[in-house]
Amino acid sequence: MDVLIKGAKPYGEGDPVDVLVRNEVIAEIATGIEAGEGTEVIEAGGFVLLPGFVDLHTHLREPGGEDAETIETGSMAAALGGFTAVFAMPNTDPVADNAVIVEHVYRRGAEVGLVDVHPVGAVTVGLGGEKLAELGTMAASAAGVRMFSDDGRCVHDPLLMRRALEYATALDVVIAQHAEDPRLTGDAQAHEGVVAARLGLAGWPAVAEETIVSRDCALARDAGAALHVCHVSSARTVEVLRTAKAAGVRVSAEVTPHHLLLTDALLTSYDPVNKVNPPLRTGADTAAMRQALADRVIDCVATDHAPHPAQAKDCEWAAAKPGMLGLQTALSVLAHTMVEPGLLDWRGVARVLSERPAEIAGLPDHGRPIEVGEPANLALVDPDAQWTVRGSRLASLAGNTPYEGMRLPARVVATLLRGRVTALDGEVQK
Ligand code: DOR
Ligand code: ZN
Repeated sequence: MDVLIKGAKPYGEGDPVDVLVRNEVIAEIATGIEAGEGTEVIEAGGFVLLPGFVDLHTHLREPGGEDAETIETGSMAAALGGFTAVFAMPNTDPVADNAVIVEHVYRRGAEVGLVDVHPVGAVTVGLGGEKLAELGTMAASAAGVRMFSDDGRCVHDPLLMRRALEYATALDVVIAQHAEDPRLTGDAQAHEGVVAARLGLAGWPAVAEETIVSRDCALARDAGAALHVCHVSSARTVEVLRTAKAAGVRVSAEVTPHHLLLTDALLTSYDPVNKVNPPLRTGADTAAMRQALADRVIDCVATDHAPHPAQAKDCEWAAAKPGMLGLQTALSVLAHTMVEPGLLDWRGVARVLSERPAEIAGLPDHGRPIEVGEPANLALVDPDAQWTVRGSRLASLAGNTPYEGMRLPARVVATLLRGRVTALDGEVQK
């Protein structure tokens, strides 16, 4: 079916135009386009039209964690959040460390059909950190895996990381590192600093991230490999990335919405909803994350959407699992932290939520310019909306949002995947 978006501003710029979508692509951009018979019309009223968002870091939990999220419920949350492609992390049960599992995740994502689900393959067998998984087999599988990560854990052994990066060069894929030296973090519960000291929580020192990123940049340089740094959380890491990029290392980096907004000051409530890995850090760190994203030292925003069942969060701090929901709040947190203070305009939002992540992962059909002939993967955003986050109303099975009750700006009004409307006015379109 044709879709006609009436009166939207691509990238929030210029006068409103009509955008006609036909046969999965943008067929016409003009003013005064008439809706033909059977055309679905979306009244955009001057809203901002962006390329559909691409999330390089999502935990969909299937297989094995279906009490927290499924590929279906996670896809619903993604569509409602403006996403047209998500990368599903492999720390499932069983682990996605072989072609059978990655193909299962890929096929299930396609069957649900709300968002392109790209499985991330594990770097090591069972996330065990000891033996390389069969990266080549996963890359050559029907899932066409482009990104590998042991996320949740760091590929800590330098020799193993070196080999993984060498394979990545040969296969033309990306290694995404959860940068955390386990010898430095131990059983850490919070950012190592004044708050953790006062609360008596074991600290996760920022240097445990910085040292791994430094090491990995050197290894990636030698291997000529593409390295992606997951969820950068510390100001010091930004300086390492800046230097490596200036030296020509093929390194990219993401920051989560929560590391742009939230700090360890929230920990005084002892509410485990704020427990996440890497931990919430200081106001100086969130300020550095925002500036680095504006300066392009950090390339993109990725949600690290990490649903957990109630029993994994409604418990004492030390026993709680780390992680927070992110898919349906990412755009609003980005609007609040970056657009409102003038650090990014909507074109910048398109860059960090869509274009750069699509480039990093090598997705040819996402993050494309809003032009005639381009794939109709789009997100329509009301920039002036205000809404109050309620975990119980989010599409995820889990409810662990750290933004509960918070009033946030900007809202995704519609999402289109290859010309099909997947979400409209807060409702998933099946
Ligand atoms: O907070 C986190 N949760 N950080 C990770 O690295 C993993 C994730 C999860 O799987 O829950
Ligand atoms: Zn991680």
